[in-house]
Parts: sequence; C-alpha cells; structure tokens
Amino acid sequence: MQNLDFYDLKPKLSDFRQEVLVGLSKPQKSIPPKFFYDKQGSEIFEQICELEEYYPTRTELAIFKQHCEEIAALMGENCLIVEYGSGSSEKIRIFLDVLKNPSAYMPIDISKEHMLRASEEVARAYPKLDVLSVCGDYTQKLILPVYEKKPVKTKVIFFPGNTIGNLDYADAVELFSQAATLVGSGGGMLIGIDMKKDPQILHAAYNDAKGVTAAFNLNLLVRMNRDLSANFDLSSFSHYAFYSPKSSRIEMHLVSLKNQVVSVAKQEFEFSKGESIHTENSYKFNLEEFQKVAEEGGFNLVKVWSDDNQFFSICYLSVA
Ligand code: AVJ
Repeated sequence: MQNLDFYDLKPKLSDFRQEVLVGLSKPQKSIPPKFFYDKQGSEIFEQICELEEYYPTRTELAIFKQHCEEIAALMGENCLIVEYGSGSSEKIRIFLDVLKNPSAYMPIDISKEHMLRASEEVARAYPKLDVLSVCGDYTQKLILPVYEKKPVKTKVIFFPGNTIGNLDYADAVELFSQAATLVGSGGGMLIGIDMKKDPQILHAAYNDAKGVTAAFNLNLLVRMNRDLSANFDLSSFSHYAFYSPKSSRIEMHLVSLKNQVVSVAKQEFEFSKGESIHTENSYKFNLEEFQKVAEEGGFNLVKVWSDDNQFFSICYLSVA
C-alpha cells in the first residue's frame, strides 16, 4: 500500500526475559503490565473492553463521539497524530473521520502482528492519510521516523484508555516530558483518564463475572511458559484484583495457592503460599491530581470532557 510504512524497532524477547528475571527477583515479585499484550493477550484485552462491568472503553468512546468535532478543531488541520499503544486502532477513526486534512498517523505498539493488521486497515480506509506504523515500546526512549512527505501544522499525541494509569507518578511525569519534547511548542495530547469513583464499581470492572480479566492476568504465565520455557502450573495461581483508596489504584496480582518452586529461563523462583506477583497498577484520578502530573511534564490543560457520571474524562493538553 502506497500510504503505509512500517518501522520495526524490534522490542526484544531478551528484554522480556531480562525484565521478568529482574521482576521475579524482587522482594515483592512483579512483572510490567506491557507484557500482557502478546497476540493472545491483545485479543483477551479486546474482550475485556466489551464486558458489561468494564465501563472505561464504552464511556470513552461515547465522549469521543459526542465531542469529536470540537476536539478535531483543537487539533487543527494538517496534523500528525502519534498514538501510544495503538492496539486495534479503532478509536482514532472517530477523529480521522472529522479532522481537516490530517497529514499522517503514527501508531506505536509493542504487539507487532496485531498493530500491523490494524495499520493496514486504517491505511486502506483513509487513502489520503500517510500511516507510519512503528513497532516499539513507547515507555523506552524511542527514535521515531522523520515525517516530511506533507506539511504538518500540529503534532498531537493520542493516548486514550487510561493507559497513563499504568504508570507511577515519576514515570508519568517522564512520559509527559518526552511527549512534550516530541510534539514541541503548540503541540498537543489527547488523553483519556479514569476517574475516582465508588470502589465497588472499580472492583467489578477488574473482577468480571465471566473471568475474562482473570484469563488476561493468567495469560502472562502462559506467555512465560511458552516464550521463556517456564513451568508455571496455571491451576496453582489465582487472579487477585482490588482497589486501594489510599494509593488511588487498582492492583492486579497473581497469587500462589501453595508453596512451590517455578523455573523461568533456567532460573528457579520460590513462591510461598499466598505470595503474589504484582502484575499491574491502574491509577484513578481526580482532575486536580491529573493536571499536576501533566503540568510537571510540561503540558497545560486546555479542555476536559466527561460523561454524566464523571466516570471517565478526556483531556486536551498542549505545550506552551
Ligand atoms: C489498558 C491499562 C487502561 O488498567 O483498565 C484492564 C488494562 N487490566 N483490565 C486498565 C486492564 C485489567 C487497562 N489499561
């Protein structure tokens, strides 16, 4: 396809091995959530997004649809959109449909096959748009392809779905700083954040009745068994997710149901009964807190849109 380019920055299997071995050696065992998204994990995540209990995706989509014209006006004409963690590239289409002559779309994702398929579909559906798809890890320092084919008035980062919620304060500030440098003065970021709310609603969203979130969490063990020659027994670990009002976050863990030794990439790890691997944090925000992180990273809050319940918010940020 004429309007599609692919850049493989090759996030490595050795990085997965390295990060897992480091994480499992800590007193509180942990694995970064970015490793959920192998082919299988990306598919399970899409099932999560359709669950009755998982309100973020549909709420965010409704806000996007309601306000896309106004948002598109802020992004302006001839923009270059960089999406962090583009997955199936569904959400961006809402904006591609209403933006005035967008120049290029640069999806970045760690899950290669998944993103390639998605980029092809976007390139086919929007033949006038240049699609530069990048397989890489946006939480690391990235050297992005230079785009000069058409003029670009504004660079905007598209970061929906409360993916920012995976990061601790310092890492979030770091991400905003790098993003601010990337888009430069006048550049923007369109970001979705999940708001603080009744813990019961949060709890249900990460403990769905069908067990899809449990399968998503446990898939990490499946992935280690396959890619790192590990020997996790899936029936001896259990999905555990809870909301901590004190730290304003959902924590997901895989809890060992017995004393056991597991081998991963030829190293042995001991688990005592009840010990966990911490697999994800998902922070929940209020507007003041969010504004503070964004500002510390160099972005100003321009405008916020929310649903009636204020379950989820979309923010447009810009670099002064
Ligand atoms: C993609 C990080 C926003 O935290 O809600 C969903 C991932 N984990 N269910 C979230 C997730 C369990 C999701 N984020």
